[in-house]
Amino acid sequence: MSGDHEQTLVRTSRIGIIGAGISGIAAAKELSSYDPIVFEATGSIGGVWKHCSFASTKLQTPRCDFEFSDYPWPERDNASFPSHVEILDYLHGFAVHFDVLKYVQFNSRVVEIGYVGEHATSASPRRDPGMPNSSEYGSLLKGQPVWEVAVETGPTGTLQWYAFEFIVMCIGKYGDVPRMPVFPRNRGQEVFRGEVLHTMDYARLDEAGAKNLLKGKKVAVVGYKKSAIDLAVESAEANQGPDGQACTMVIRTLHWTVPSYWIWGLPFFLFYSTRSSQFLHEKPDQSLLWTLLCPLLSPMRRAISKFIESYLVWKLPLVKYGLKPDHPFEEDYASCQMAILPENFFSEADKGKILFKRAPSRWWFWSKGIEFEDGSKLEADVVILATGYDGKQKLQSVLPEPFRSLVVDSSGVMPLYRGTIHPMIPNMAFVGYIESVSNLHTAELRCKWLAQLVNDKFKLPPVQAMIRQVTQEMDVMKRATRFYKRHCISTFSINHSDELCREMGWSPWRKSNWLSEAFSPYSSQDYADQKVNEKND
Ligand SMILES: Cc1cc2nc3c(=O)[nH]c(=O)nc-3n(C[C@H](O)[C@H](O)[C@H](O)COP(=O)(O)OP(=O)(O)OC[C@H]3O[C@@H](n4cnc5c(N)ncnc54)[C@H](O)[C@@H]3O)c2cc1C
Ligand SMILES: NC(=O)c1ccc[n+]([C@@H]2O[C@H](COP(=O)([O-])OP(=O)(O)OC[C@H]3O[C@@H](n4cnc5c(N)ncnc54)[C@H](OP(=O)(O)O)[C@@H]3O)[C@@H](O)[C@H]2O)c1
Repeated sequence: MSGDHEQTLVRTSRIGIIGAGISGIAAAKELSSYDPIVFEATGSIGGVWKHCSFASTKLQTPRCDFEFSDYPWPERDNASFPSHVEILDYLHGFAVHFDVLKYVQFNSRVVEIGYVGEHATSASPRRDPGMPNSSEYGSLLKGQPVWEVAVETGPTGTLQWYAFEFIVMCIGKYGDVPRMPVFPRNRGQEVFRGEVLHTMDYARLDEAGAKNLLKGKKVAVVGYKKSAIDLAVESAEANQGPDGQACTMVIRTLHWTVPSYWIWGLPFFLFYSTRSSQFLHEKPDQSLLWTLLCPLLSPMRRAISKFIESYLVWKLPLVKYGLKPDHPFEEDYASCQMAILPENFFSEADKGKILFKRAPSRWWFWSKGIEFEDGSKLEADVVILATGYDGKQKLQSVLPEPFRSLVVDSSGVMPLYRGTIHPMIPNMAFVGYIESVSNLHTAELRCKWLAQLVNDKFKLPPVQAMIRQVTQEMDVMKRATRFYKRHCISTFSINHSDELCREMGWSPWRKSNWLSEAFSPYSSQDYADQKVNEKND
């Protein structure tokens, strides 16, 4: 790897960060003492909020939860959900306030990464080359380049190689690489006479272009998650009046949707975001006694889930439209799949502007639309694939072998210790891959943890111990939800943060009194640097 470009290799910084979305700018701030270089493929920060958003895209996390610990929203108690434009303003304000933009190289796409660390030629590089069975892992900054990174810049695609001791991958779980359905031969989009696009293409249209695409057209939206739901509403809104056409949502799996963060008059956080509520759920680092006790608490967990389901079935016409999922609500919550419904979703359905088609898992195109495995057909002028993104493939496309093959384990999950370190990939961290109610909070706290790790304030455990911990975490997720592949920690997020705090030498109990500790939700503000100092004094 370090052969022909050795002469031109740039070694100005020890740490490279790839991506300037929320994760990348949080990492840049926390690692600022190392003057990192942040490579950003596009011309702006903000990631998905700039490139995967539609006119109607709003935050679906309460704004006081989606907030950096030391940079509050201007109106943090405002209960409305900010638009994607407001989120970009907020992120820009953060980046300017903490002088993070000076680290970012815009229009710089990382196209290849090479490993030049110890055992670079070995088929199976070990995480800790010198001491695989030692009780402690050595320093992450070894004084020698471990990774070389090829960066394409400018309109001509000039290639420049950089060398780093440590890399933080922040290229995002969503965006960039669409997850595309696979079709039988001669039944792909080439046989369809209409237009097919993915949500990523739709997000590139301006408001007028989007309206133009949808207006007066029979639109089929494939998917029943947040992008699909927002798109269906945009289609309905573009098709008001007698000439308007209906949009049909093609639904493979039903999921629970919620109209707001209030359930039978109670704030939603009471059910899953406090210590007392998470007490009922299994955690990866729990004691044996707790493991034995946990099944006994399952009726209580089930009762909470049923309580929420009863409200949703009462409040929303789920039964009328055949949209009531068979699985419990808590499985959607435990996999971070709960979507907040736009206010007018069901009123548009009542007007006949949004229709629902339950689809068998196999479908393909015919000349006038979509044909399903059971022989039924749906006519459409435009088919929009709201089928999500392939974040793992995005990572694999830049990582070299053998690391590329290690990104996901045999069950299709990315094994990350503390949601950040892959036990088998040396001198590299991954931010933005585990999810919770607020992915901003989850990413920021892990960046704080990472900075302490890089500063040698604590050490990583041996590889085997990390693998054991990650496996335990996967097992907990597998028991909590059939949708475990999303790597969501929402039912044990406080415990996850506790472990990070302990490793950083912070007190995990961060509230001012026992009552708040038990019944108020945890958010990024609980982990602000100022609070850390107070707690540690
Ligand atoms: C439409 C949408 C809405 C969402 N809403 C919410 C929400 O309400 N609440 C919530 O908690 N989460 C939400 N999420 C999840 C969201 O992904 C996270 O909240 C968060 O914004 C992700 O930030 P990130 O920095 O990890 O990734 P991204 O935002 O994807 O940023 C990755 C950055 O890396 C850059 N990049 C990619 N590849 C390369 C490369 N090879 N070289 C250089 N740069 C590269 C990209 O250009 C991008 O700027 C939403 C996701 C989407 C898609
Ligand atoms: N804040 C916001 O307003 C907002 C807006 C948009 C997106 N987001 C976030 O962005 C992320 C991505 O969301 P997303 O909605 O784009 O993607 P997603 O959550 O991955 O959902 C993809 C949808 O497409 C369906 N699908 C995939 N392949 C299919 C196939 N071959 N045939 C039929 N259906 C298929 C899936 O069905 P199955 O369930 O059966 O797999 C699912 O309904 C999520 O985290 C989401 O919360 C947030």
